[in-house]
Amino acid sequence: MRSDEHEQGEQNVMTTIRDWVGFWDSPHSIYVNARHIDVHYRDIATAIAGFVPGPQARVLDFGCGEALHSDMVAKVAGTVVLSDAAPSVRRNLAERFVRVPNIAVASPDDLRAMPDGVFDLIVANSVVQYLSRTDLDGLLAEWRRLLAPDGVLIVADVIPPDVGALSDLLALLRYAWTNGFLIASLIGVVRTAFSSYSKLRQQLGIAKYTEEEFRAILTKAGFTAERLPGNMEHNPARISFRARPVA
Ligand SMILES: C[S@@+](CC[C@H](N)C(=O)[O-])C[C@H]1O[C@@H](n2cnc3c(N)ncnc32)[C@H](O)[C@@H]1O
Repeated sequence: MRSDEHEQGEQNVMTTIRDWVGFWDSPHSIYVNARHIDVHYRDIATAIAGFVPGPQARVLDFGCGEALHSDMVAKVAGTVVLSDAAPSVRRNLAERFVRVPNIAVASPDDLRAMPDGVFDLIVANSVVQYLSRTDLDGLLAEWRRLLAPDGVLIVADVIPPDVGALSDLLALLRYAWTNGFLIASLIGVVRTAFSSYSKLRQQLGIAKYTEEEFRAILTKAGFTAERLPGNMEHNPARISFRARPVA
């Protein structure tokens, strides 16, 4: 797709996008070019693979997005379930991983129908900021149900209230510089400022939590909460947690 077609697509869908899932289900330009989306998902897959407890582990990547490199996780795990609320994202995933026998794609309804304790690791990276507080509480209850008693939940890229657009911008530029897409990122930053993402962020907002607030939310949902030394994603000002179900 040419970039002018892409922008046209963004403008057309803006009239129908009413929530964040609608945004992720539509054409968008969050990733500034092919190199950006590739290194992003490679880094995410590397990080998730690092949390996999063993070769038999059953892993759920919740709100996985395009998950371009989940086959890297599948190589070190027993099974990987990729779940996303956006139907077009799920279609892409199913097509991409049709030949990887231990990767399955699941809708939110599919997850609800699964029995208790079926996952050893659940990862939700860069998802909770797009959830209402009610939805977050509902999902934490679902993740707790789906986790084995000795399972681990990673909730990553939680945005503290004092981390704003400038922090995100500087982190993106650093990431782009390190990974060889700086020029594209400068153009991308301008494009994003005028994109459906910015408009939706103004309309709907995104959820932000201090470390203490998010710890309290995890505790109330029946988890222990440990802040990880670094964030799973490229902005070190955002926070990642490892949580375990309390018996
Ligand atoms: C910022 S993207 C993150 C994608 C991926 N986890 C990553 O690390 O790049 C947020 C993703 O969460 C998904 N999402 C948002 N709300 C969701 C929900 N309630 N249930 C499942 N997926 C959701 C969106 O469709 C989108 O693909």
